[in-house]
Amino acid sequence: MNPEELQNLAREAQSRLESLQTPAQLEEFRIAYLGRKGKVTCLFEALKTAPSEERRTLGQKLNELKNSLEEKLKGRQSGLSASGGREKEFLDPTLPGIRPASGRIHPLTQTIRRITGIFERLGFEVAEGPEIETEFYNFTALNIPLDHPSRDAFATFYTQVDSPRESPFLLRSQTSTVQIRVMQKRKPPLRIIAPGRVYRPDRVDASHAFMFHQIEGLMVDERTTFSELKGVLHLFLRQLLGPETKIRFRPHFFPFTEPSAEVDVNCFLCDGRGCSVCGGKGWLELLGAGSVDPAVFEQVGYDPKRVQGFAFGLGVERIAMLMHGISDIRMFLENDLRFLRQF
Ligand code: DAH
Repeated sequence: MNPEELQNLAREAQSRLESLQTPAQLEEFRIAYLGRKGKVTCLFEALKTAPSEERRTLGQKLNELKNSLEEKLKGRQSGLSASGGREKEFLDPTLPGIRPASGRIHPLTQTIRRITGIFERLGFEVAEGPEIETEFYNFTALNIPLDHPSRDAFATFYTQVDSPRESPFLLRSQTSTVQIRVMQKRKPPLRIIAPGRVYRPDRVDASHAFMFHQIEGLMVDERTTFSELKGVLHLFLRQLLGPETKIRFRPHFFPFTEPSAEVDVNCFLCDGRGCSVCGGKGWLELLGAGSVDPAVFEQVGYDPKRVQGFAFGLGVERIAMLMHGISDIRMFLENDLRFLRQF
């Protein structure tokens, strides 16, 4: 072996390496030059017979060649696999699969479905109404007088901003509107549950939003008593919150029901002993309810002497927050996956 032979081999190997295209060709190259019987490896053998004064420098050069070829080969191999040299790719059926990302139901929708589900099993059917309403459906038909503060432009969104009270339309501030829409179209007996969005121009904070959800209930028949209202709501709340749930009716006033009540449950967080969530009272206010006011029946053309009914309304966000220990209503609207993934 002499220096020239070594140089020729180096040149030949370099140019061949450059022209290779596939991983298989690279492997062939590796065997031909660097394998156990490869050309470079054989030169190491030949080194033994070289004149002893040249052996040292030749050995060094040979080592350099071997290292540089190995390095370039590696470079070409990783270059090929990155640029899509797919020859060596194969399917390994024993690898665990990639779980497809699945969506989930928003916690408010879950709460609405749970609540409407309970009422559906009691024979109530789901009804819906428009979010853009008129004063008639949102107020007048519900026996809410013209001077009632809830009709104020500070309490309801009107579509005509410059002269709100002449506005033909508004964003409904309660789902009680659906009572009127259903009764106008249908005759008793009726059992409906109406979930939906409502809007109020409230300053946004941890417990207020400009849009939230309510669920309205209405039952009308020839005879529908206040004790049936109590029975239905007690059954509902026990199914929603647990069999030990106690309820309390407090006298209240709503224009569209008479008599009216606010309905409380014993605080399920402190079990009635009093905590920060129930404000030390041991009770949580959850619903408004009452017997349908005869004035409302007259508005929809029902004869108040021949029909009786009860109605109730609840806030979905409030119930979802209490049930899940959520302290800020804004969480529902922020689309933060860290929050949403918990439900
Ligand atoms: N609409 C009422 C509100 O937004 C809730 C309500 C109270 C609905 C009593 C009713 C009812 O049907 O009987 O505050």
